[in-house]
Amino acid sequence: MLKIVVCVSGGGTNLQAIIDGIAQGTIGNVRIVRVISNNKKAYALERAEQAGIEGVCVSPRDYADREQFNRALLQKVEEAAPDLVVLAGFLVVIPPELIRRYENRIVNIHPSLIPSFCGTGYYGLKVHEAALARGVKVTGATVHFVDEGTDTGPILMQKAVAVKDGDTPESLQRRVMEEAEWVILPKCLDLIAAGKVTVADGQAHITE
Ligand code: GAR
Repeated sequence: MLKIVVCVSGGGTNLQAIIDGIAQGTIGNVRIVRVISNNKKAYALERAEQAGIEGVCVSPRDYADREQFNRALLQKVEEAAPDLVVLAGFLVVIPPELIRRYENRIVNIHPSLIPSFCGTGYYGLKVHEAALARGVKVTGATVHFVDEGTDTGPILMQKAVAVKDGDTPESLQRRVMEEAEWVILPKCLDLIAAGKVTVADGQAHITE
């Protein structure tokens, strides 16, 4: 059984996709042991509660400085003793110590086809605003392992999504979620739990 901690900041639709995937059996052999939010008001925490999963808030506001927050976050992860940490819309810079401690054991979902529209400042709706401003015809989502850069770790899976005339950042965000994020994140967790994912020389591979 792959024990996962899911880190969230907002609505938690990706968390919901994981909860539903486990319930429906499309994600096998995975258990969510804790949901961590940096935001007390995140709807994701309600989703966790409704699913009977422990939800914990670690807000930077409750700590004197970043270092103390980072330490608290690491502690909340470690307490749950996960095999894998899943960043599902977690809009916090991940402490280097956490990244080192969980090398190749943290995955992130990003709402574009990396290396487009990623890196510092590209998160949430901003990613889709940038894609529309550039006029790309195809965008999508990426699941990648987390290294010490921003969105630079080994790519595990990507799915393309068409941009349509008249799209707004909101309509594009919704389509990318429905057609890509809620599909590939659950799929990746199923593959990792099945032992079908390896990382070597900075590249992730899936063996079927
Ligand atoms: C998702 O679109 C996710 O890809 C994005 O935040 C949203 C969270 O939605 N993550 C990033 O931008 C990370 N750089 P959700 O809370 O409904 O899952």
